[in-house]
Amino acid sequence: MIILGIESSCDDTSAAIIKDGILLSNVTASQAVHEAYGGVVPELASRAHQQNIVPVVDHALKKAGVTQEELSAIAFTRGPGLMGSLLVGVSFAKGLAASLNIPMIEVNHLQGHVLAHFVREEGDEHTAPPFPFLCLLVSGGNSQIILVRSYKDMEIIGKTIDDAAGEAIDKCSKVMGMGYPGGPIIDRLARNGNPKAFEFARPQIAGYDYSFSGLKTSFLYNLREWVAEDPDFIERHKEDLAASLEYTIVDILMKKLRKAAKDLKIKHVALAGGVSANTGLRQAFEDHARRYGWTVYIPKFGYTTDNAAMIAMVGCFKYQEKEFCTMDKPAYSRVDI
Ligand code: KG4
Repeated sequence: MIILGIESSCDDTSAAIIKDGILLSNVTASQAVHEAYGGVVPELASRAHQQNIVPVVDHALKKAGVTQEELSAIAFTRGPGLMGSLLVGVSFAKGLAASLNIPMIEVNHLQGHVLAHFVREEGDEHTAPPFPFLCLLVSGGNSQIILVRSYKDMEIIGKTIDDAAGEAIDKCSKVMGMGYPGGPIIDRLARNGNPKAFEFARPQIAGYDYSFSGLKTSFLYNLREWVAEDPDFIERHKEDLAASLEYTIVDILMKKLRKAAKDLKIKHVALAGGVSANTGLRQAFEDHARRYGWTVYIPKFGYTTDNAAMIAMVGCFKYQEKEFCTMDKPAYSRVDI
């Protein structure tokens, strides 16, 4: 079984090959073009995908030492994501699958993030979480607690009612005049700051749902006042601001996750999505493992952001069940897991 995975939902063009459950290649072309705009510009993203898709797939095949003719199936991200970006990957997958006369497998991008924990490389010692487990999926577009009963039975038990955690971090970083994406910048600054230096608004939301827009607004309003009094405030306090912001977001995320794990009596807890690269969040997971007896699953850095390895992984699960799709499946920009 040799699966080609294709991912193009946002601003990363990625292709990966998994052969008999082992990842042979995972090639990603990122798009620096968006940096100047402080966010992803959809039209520029789809144009860059068009330029990248052929060389990226070609590179992934060559790196894996596999020819097109040896492929068993093509798994592709059908959504959710940016429509123009998705269309490039979806159309390419359809064209290649038709020309090779092999099946296509549609993949939900969010399901891919959750199942990234099952990607194995040669000689990999890591163990995948046993079902059922809880997954905290935190990215630029999502903040969700997912109850994962099997590879195809996933239930979102909590989600953000407004901004995603990554979106809030990126916006706060932007108002501080830092670069884009803000996540890695805030992470770096936070390492040298005091997490208790400043306090920001915390949401009071029932159940397992999240909200980050109030925190973002409180960060902005406080900052405006402080800068009005002292124009050099940000420069002099950027480490403490970053550390306090990170601490507040991680605390909000972990509180609801703790409640879900306790209520559902689940001790296997995984982390996924772009924000899972965050040092403070990773430390909080390790800390919860010690304090609450959780077994935690933290993805390798390469699988935190968008990548095709996770798409090919879902492809492997679905291939075994012969869950193929037909040519007429359009891309979708919005959908739950
Ligand atoms: O999953 P992802 O790559 O794609 C989108 O959903 O767009 O997540 C990207 C998000 C961005 O908001 C980025 O700032 C955030 O993940 N991020 C981080 C870190 N690295 C990336 N947030 C906090 N700390 C990091 N080290």
